[in-house]
Amino acid sequence: MHIQEISPEQINEYIITKKIDISLERITKGQEYLKQFDIYIQKILGNGQFGIVFQGYDQQNKRSIAIKLIFGQNESFVQEYINEAQLARQINSKFVVKMYDQFYDQENKNYFIVYEYCEEGNLQNYYKKLNQQQIIEISIHLTQGILDIHAKQIIHSDIKPENILLTKVNGQLIAKIGDLGLSKKLQNNLTHISTYQGTYSFMAYEQTDGKLCIESDYFALGSVICFISGINLQDFMTMSLLKTGYYQDDQRNPLVSLALELMKKEPHDRMKLNIFLSKLLNMRIDQDLQQNNQNSKGNQFKYIKKNIFKFSIIVLLTLIIIKVGIEIQKNSNNNENYEIIFYNNGSSYKGQLKNNQKHGKGKIDFGNGIIYEGDFKKDTFYGYGQLIQINGDQYKGDFKDNFFDGKGFIKYTNGSSYEGEFKNGAYNGYGEFKQNNGNIKKGKWKDGEMI
Ligand SMILES: Nc1ncnc2c1ncn2[C@@H]1O[C@H](COP(=O)(O)OP(=O)(O)O)[C@@H](O)[C@H]1O
Ligand SMILES: [Mg+2]
Repeated sequence: MHIQEISPEQINEYIITKKIDISLERITKGQEYLKQFDIYIQKILGNGQFGIVFQGYDQQNKRSIAIKLIFGQNESFVQEYINEAQLARQINSKFVVKMYDQFYDQENKNYFIVYEYCEEGNLQNYYKKLNQQQIIEISIHLTQGILDIHAKQIIHSDIKPENILLTKVNGQLIAKIGDLGLSKKLQNNLTHISTYQGTYSFMAYEQTDGKLCIESDYFALGSVICFISGINLQDFMTMSLLKTGYYQDDQRNPLVSLALELMKKEPHDRMKLNIFLSKLLNMRIDQDLQQNNQNSKGNQFKYIKKNIFKFSIIVLLTLIIIKVGIEIQKNSNNNENYEIIFYNNGSSYKGQLKNNQKHGKGKIDFGNGIIYEGDFKKDTFYGYGQLIQINGDQYKGDFKDNFFDGKGFIKYTNGSSYEGEFKNGAYNGYGEFKQNNGNIKKGKWKDGEMI
């Protein structure tokens, strides 16, 4: 396979037009260095404060990659990025950009980090193309991604659209959190003093004051969701209202109202992310469940019934036969009107209906990894059921209004599990949490936390 490499002229043009502070020689030396690993630089994707990012090809592993070259003037900058690489390595999430490799060219003091390539680019350049359904979907991905980062006791601290990358898997858009360059390992749950600043428009109140905590990421996530929902964060008035907690959403967009719960002034007033996620999932599920049963065969029968008198006797006779057929079918499965419905957004439902609503036993596959099988009541998950979450986590137990509610068991993909009582989608009541390292937390819970 012939790989088209970037030429020195193309590199030079980028350096000049973007006025970036790096020499052509440094990049071409980097390009040469990477060739010994069968890695070829093809294109410049972007640059940030401390690095330049290339698209490349990894001949050995036969995959497209993104390569970040760090050009910090001093050792401490480079050290920060070695730190980034180490943090990124620990996280294994579908919704966090994967780090594959790292290289250090001692002779030229070039430091490289190799990531999975996200071909749809960053969210800043893409968000205008999103429809409401995709915005909700992406919000779910981001929330899951941040939860996965926090599970490793890492604060991202610079969540913003440019640091969120998009890729397509089987035609479905997936958002991944990238750029852990400013991330901090959380120590003893204390608030950190942030030396580098994140990005003002997305930054939490306390972070602008130089303090950083896990909830600062909640705030930034909320801002990103508001931003992609069309709220102008550059507007000073909007921003001050948001940061002081006085912003009101005139559009009455339920997603924005929910995102505002992450943007309370006081970090401890912000909604916990696991609760936020279950509310988001609920929104996503609602959207699907409330859709009209467009392609159901039920509607076709209705159509025939409606026009029955317009037909001639022969047609009438035929219809009588069909009607008899329907009657037989109706009698044979009485309330168990099994249907298979394919929605145009990729979801499908197989199960019982009542008054055109999912009601009884059924299975819905959302087409994005989320699958629910169990009891439905008036288009909601209600009763006993099993839910596979977007990241593979599995819940088995009681549901109420789409939320985990009652007794249940949840098995996380990382090997941890919880068995006990739930309410509103979170651990509430008595339960036992088994961590993947063998630790057990047993007792009373409130909104997902032990009391
Ligand atoms: N894995 C990737 N796939 C595709 N594009 C990427 C990838 N990583 C970064 N980019 C592009 O490069 C830009 C800068 O990357 P980022 O990791 O944020 O670096 P910086 O530390 O310089 O801000 C991103 O906004 C994005 O456009
Ligand atoms: Mg960045």
